[in-house]
Amino acid sequence: MREPTMIDGNSNASSSPLPPPPQALLERLKDYGQEDVFALWEELSADERDFLVKDIEGLDLPRLDRIIRCSLRSQALPVAAIEPVPENSVSTVEERSMEDRERWWKMGLKAISGGKLAVLLLSGGQGTRLGSSDPKGCFNIGLPSGKSLFQLQAERILCVQRLAAQAATEGSGGSAQIHWYIMTSPFTDEPTRKYFESHKYFGLEADQVRELVTFFQQGTIPSVSTDGRFIMETPFKVSKAPDGNGGVYSALKSSRLLEDMASRGIKYVDCYGVDNALVRVADPTFVGYFMDKGVSAAAKVVRKAYPQEKVGVFVRRGKGGPLTVVEYSELDQSLASAVNQQTGRLRFCWSNVCLHMFSLDFLNQVANGLEKDSTYHLAEKKIPSIHGFTMGYKLEQFIFDAFPYAPSTALFEVLREEEFAPVKNANGSNFDTPDSARLLVLRLHTRWVVAAGGFLTHSVPLYATGVEVSPLCSYAGENLEAICRGRTFHAPCEISF
Ligand code: UD1
Repeated sequence: MREPTMIDGNSNASSSPLPPPPQALLERLKDYGQEDVFALWEELSADERDFLVKDIEGLDLPRLDRIIRCSLRSQALPVAAIEPVPENSVSTVEERSMEDRERWWKMGLKAISGGKLAVLLLSGGQGTRLGSSDPKGCFNIGLPSGKSLFQLQAERILCVQRLAAQAATEGSGGSAQIHWYIMTSPFTDEPTRKYFESHKYFGLEADQVRELVTFFQQGTIPSVSTDGRFIMETPFKVSKAPDGNGGVYSALKSSRLLEDMASRGIKYVDCYGVDNALVRVADPTFVGYFMDKGVSAAAKVVRKAYPQEKVGVFVRRGKGGPLTVVEYSELDQSLASAVNQQTGRLRFCWSNVCLHMFSLDFLNQVANGLEKDSTYHLAEKKIPSIHGFTMGYKLEQFIFDAFPYAPSTALFEVLREEEFAPVKNANGSNFDTPDSARLLVLRLHTRWVVAAGGFLTHSVPLYATGVEVSPLCSYAGENLEAICRGRTFHAPCEISF
């Protein structure tokens, strides 16, 4: 539906009178207290009226009414107390043996070569805090290679495919393909697709592209005033925002992608956020761990760096209740800084890095169950409207809202210096910027190169530079000796084949 351009307010002055709003639609809107959307009807042109009617007809009013009422009501209710996650329900880095790690790695590679793993990228949402209008994944954080976040992720997938295919050839033989599902929003969809096309899908074989990469769009939901009425973005358009990264479940269902996954023999789905420069997409160790534990849902976690860090934390909801995440925006400040007197660590210390593994069976359950859960998170924002910026709510589901529904869950600690380089804010901010993420990548890769027998020279201080290892050479520091032993690299540079 093309949006009419706004013409003078009294565009109908010279034309014959236009009909009133369609009566049946008006009555339906009145049933839900939303009839104000027609408040400026008299001032609209014929095209604008047509646009507005279609806009409203596209809304599932009973569902939206349920969501808005439940979400506003739940905001006033006391929240069940939260408890820290017991230490023994987290697989910590120090408790894992070399044998475990090798076993999981092999199990994961075997499952991948058997086509059982899909990766699902959450790349929707609205604008970014990076000061760029492009989708976040297009962002180049300034690595020597100039690669964007999307490219780093694509090349890591290619690397795991190669490792899995090699492992399979050593065993019974086989190839490895990882299907990449990419969730966009109406704001990121077109530029994301174009970006992938113009970069020839980063080397994912052209003739397999249709087979290996699937884009799908998340839904949107009207933003509402604090008393639950739709906010009008223009006199003929309801303001809508993406329904949060938890919108992935209903989007998977409505796009029939869960059936698509089943038809490909996929059993495990690795979901992750776009904005982590160190994200280990399709990590065989995590896949193997997930299979070994036989759980329905798992998440990688890191220890929280400081109380105000903008990360969600895993908690238990109520005594002995299910595992879930409390988002940083919803965690009481005193709880965020509470310290466990015995360990001296933060009580709520297991940070969500937005990397979750789900079994396909569980995704099917959630896609049906979560949709019925009408309580959305309310984010209070200044929303552009016909009255200027209005305080109102955006309604969102979060991907981790699924965790309490999981029959079994597991948390897997990873080291932040190895796997978490968030890119959230523009350079110049204090935290989680492209600059800080770039340094985290360079430091880790420099350690890999030195461990593999390489040497470094540098004309700027080492704390501000380093080498970058192409994901096409190494996924997690493996197989670098042949390239690095005895060689000297002048930082900054990219090490590639
Ligand atoms: C997210 C996590 C937070 C975690 C942090 C780690 C959620 C809700 N929050 O916070 O717990 O500690 O990452 O970096 O997961 N997205 C969509 N559609 C949307 C909104 C977001 O696909 O409607 C995607 C974004 O593109 C991004 C991911 O979800 O890839 C995370 O969203 P973002 O809004 O950046 O969450 P954070 O506040 O950083």
